[in-house]
Amino acid sequence: MNVSTAILERRAEKMFDPTFVINDDQATELLANATLSPTAFNIQNWRIVRVKDTALRQKIRESAWNQDKVTDASLLFVLCADLNAWVKEPARYWKDAPQMYQDMLIPAIDAYYRNKPQVQRDEAMRSCGMLAMSIMLLAQEQGWHSCPMDGFDFDAVGKLINLPEDHVISLMIAVGKRTQESFPRVGKLTLNEICFEDTF
Ligand SMILES: Cc1cc2nc3c(=O)[nH]c(=O)nc-3n(C[C@H](O)[C@H](O)[C@H](O)COP(=O)(O)O)c2cc1C
Repeated sequence: MNVSTAILERRAEKMFDPTFVINDDQATELLANATLSPTAFNIQNWRIVRVKDTALRQKIRESAWNQDKVTDASLLFVLCADLNAWVKEPARYWKDAPQMYQDMLIPAIDAYYRNKPQVQRDEAMRSCGMLAMSIMLLAQEQGWHSCPMDGFDFDAVGKLINLPEDHVISLMIAVGKRTQESFPRVGKLTLNEICFEDTF
């Protein structure tokens, strides 16, 4: 499947087949490929919780508007980010790069994020957004389906997954096999409404 087809065919699916299984190797490959997505300064600040435990899935579903896909999809990922990834051994993000780049970029990381909580949080959401789309397109390529979700109680889900103090949740993604065709896309704005040339 080429990228355009994956983009054109991806939909936010509502109902998933609870008997359809994506195995551990397939899930690992999906995540290994998806985490090749870009992050600013290569800080890879995303942290992914794959929820396998069925009782935990049920509790998350209760905090997520009772959305069936939370329990029924083969895979459920909570995409989180470490707000302090920038300060946790940043040299590792440029290990093996030419020394010139290491000397330039490692101090630049510090300057970009230190004392800037809004930037740290924005970066968390940017990185997870990139990761989310990669997960969904890679899933599409496999013939699977997906749904991104922010329809849940972030504090409650954070408690359920033991979210560390300096981490945030960005969104959840369900991946599996849909049980029904999605209805045609609705309400798409025209390019004229959303694209501008040079300035607003
Ligand atoms: C960040 C984000 C959160 C979303 N949350 C939910 C959700 O909680 N439940 C749901 O059924 N769909 C959710 N959606 C799906 C959107 O409603 C859907 O992407 C949009 O209506 C466009 O439909 P399409 O993705 O099928 O083209 C979410 C999408 C995004 C990007």
